[in-house]
Amino acid sequence: MVNLNEKERMNIVIVGHVDHGKSTVIGRLLADTNSLPEGKLESVKKYCERNSRPFEYAFLLDALKEEQSQGITIDSARCFFKTNKRQYVIIDAPGHIEFLKNMVTGASRAEAAALVIDAKEGIKENSKRHGYLLSMLGIKNIVILVNKMDLVDYNKEKFLNIVDEFNVFLKNINIIPKVYIPISAINGENIAFKSEKMRWYEGPIFLEVIDSFEKEESDENKPFRMPVQDIYKFTEDNDDRRIIAGTVLTGEIKIGDDVIFYPSFKKAKIKTIESFNEEKQFKLTAGMSKGFTLDTQIYIKRGELACKIGEKPSLVNHSFKVNLFWMGKNPMIYNKKYKLKINTTKEIVMLEKILNIIDASDLTTESNKQQIDKFDVAQCVLKTIRPIAFDLTSDNQKTGRFVIVDEYDIAGGGIILESLEQEKSIYDEQVNKREFIWNKSQISAIERANRFKQKPKFIVITGTNNEKIDIIARELEKILFSKGKNVYYLTLSQLLSGLESDINFSNFDRDEHIRRIGELARIITDIGIIFITGISELDDFELEQLKILNKPYEIIVIDIDGISNKREEIYSFSSDKSKEEILKIVENILLEKNIVEYYI
Ligand code: GTP
Ligand code: MG
Repeated sequence: MVNLNEKERMNIVIVGHVDHGKSTVIGRLLADTNSLPEGKLESVKKYCERNSRPFEYAFLLDALKEEQSQGITIDSARCFFKTNKRQYVIIDAPGHIEFLKNMVTGASRAEAAALVIDAKEGIKENSKRHGYLLSMLGIKNIVILVNKMDLVDYNKEKFLNIVDEFNVFLKNINIIPKVYIPISAINGENIAFKSEKMRWYEGPIFLEVIDSFEKEESDENKPFRMPVQDIYKFTEDNDDRRIIAGTVLTGEIKIGDDVIFYPSFKKAKIKTIESFNEEKQFKLTAGMSKGFTLDTQIYIKRGELACKIGEKPSLVNHSFKVNLFWMGKNPMIYNKKYKLKINTTKEIVMLEKILNIIDASDLTTESNKQQIDKFDVAQCVLKTIRPIAFDLTSDNQKTGRFVIVDEYDIAGGGIILESLEQEKSIYDEQVNKREFIWNKSQISAIERANRFKQKPKFIVITGTNNEKIDIIARELEKILFSKGKNVYYLTLSQLLSGLESDINFSNFDRDEHIRRIGELARIITDIGIIFITGISELDDFELEQLKILNKPYEIIVIDIDGISNKREEIYSFSSDKSKEEILKIVENILLEKNIVEYYI
């Protein structure tokens, strides 16, 4: 006997206009492949007889549903059956809303679809709308079942007319069905057995077609993706290794492989695989929740996406086109900040542009809407403040799907379709406007530099430990002052009790913190002063923002824990360097390399 657990699984959704025979197709398929529990068919038939109701194959689904849902809640009518090739889960699409919600949030993912059309009634609105949904969700394995052929005398012309008409529509939405099959679900024609009544049809029957559907590439064969869930530090014996932990979503990684983390672009080699009390492992594959250590000490944070160098990299961007399903009680509107959760990262996101909207309750399209209402499916452009790492859903279902949180509730879910052209930084426009309006002083920067005998500079001390940052910043201020410089160190506590007293210093206000420091630096450097502040764990993105905000003056970063990527404006020290050593070198750099000196 074949061990079913080892068999491949495929989820198929059955869609189509009301009463066109979706449930009957499923009931018949289960009955004809002997997939029903022993005696089920007979008992339902007897029940119908007793109650003088005509038997319907669709009743089998209701009977199964009751049975399956005893004690547990199931979200939709799902049935299971198997062929020699694989196991199937058939989803009787439980209304558009549930179906869409489940599909976009990943609760259930259909890899294939059968769209049922009544041969007598012909193509109806929902035949088209469901076709559109399948295209929107990117389902490629599609079969069209032209049902109730018994009602049109199994007529070939009638069948071909429907094929022609529907093909015109599907072409417009870029769907190429694998095949059209004439069936009669009620009589079991061309479902699991070839029809004697439609000998003119030479194509495959329904059961053959689903077995011929190709599975999406399995997760292990895709490029390596592991969102960083956590970073654990070894604390004993001066061990400075860190374990990067997470769940491998796709692909695999071995000891010795080179990895790159996005969006920080930091690189290192896998040194060990840590499997927490289990036997030693040499590789991690899709589905495993474990960790690894790296050969070099690089500083990365939770939320980054680990990829393997040499494989297709993930995308990094802050602007992307998505299909979004909205279920929030408040509509999604422009100019409001939401939280986007993708993989293990959370970022602020805003609605940039609505491209089109379908109302999921009746699947009608609305144009010119200015907000996304509950149960709308919107194709739109979203923009995050910081760049995030992701894949397009067409490349990777797991890393291309996201959820949107409004206040504390999950209000939307969606899939990323396209990464849009990199735009300028969010602050570029603001800075241009500011500089344009700024009523410049009559005293030039050169005159000021001349008077103070120094070049104004914005110096940021960064590292992993706020106390250490503060000590170095304080000392540096003192050294520069004693050398005759006009210098000022602004501490975080000064900021928080004053200029930033309105800020709730959580992750999501950090961008605002950076913006205010940048603006403040612009004013202080304009005065002609050397401005020092400390910002823990400054990353590339933040440095870039500060640089833009502080223009035309320069910024210098002193990284006392070696956490940064190499960049021209960063002076990096490994964390074992003493305070004195760091200060000596910094002093030399600043004074001897002529960074803050100004000579006439
Ligand atoms: P909803 O779930 O209500 O959207 O309907 P459905 O698409 O699941 O249709 P269902 O399977 O319940 O069938 C609707 C009606 O069509 C039932 O009365 C079926 O008996 C009938 N029907 C289904 N398939 C056939 C067929 O091949 N021939 C004929 N003559 N009737 C059929
Ligand atoms: Mg039904």
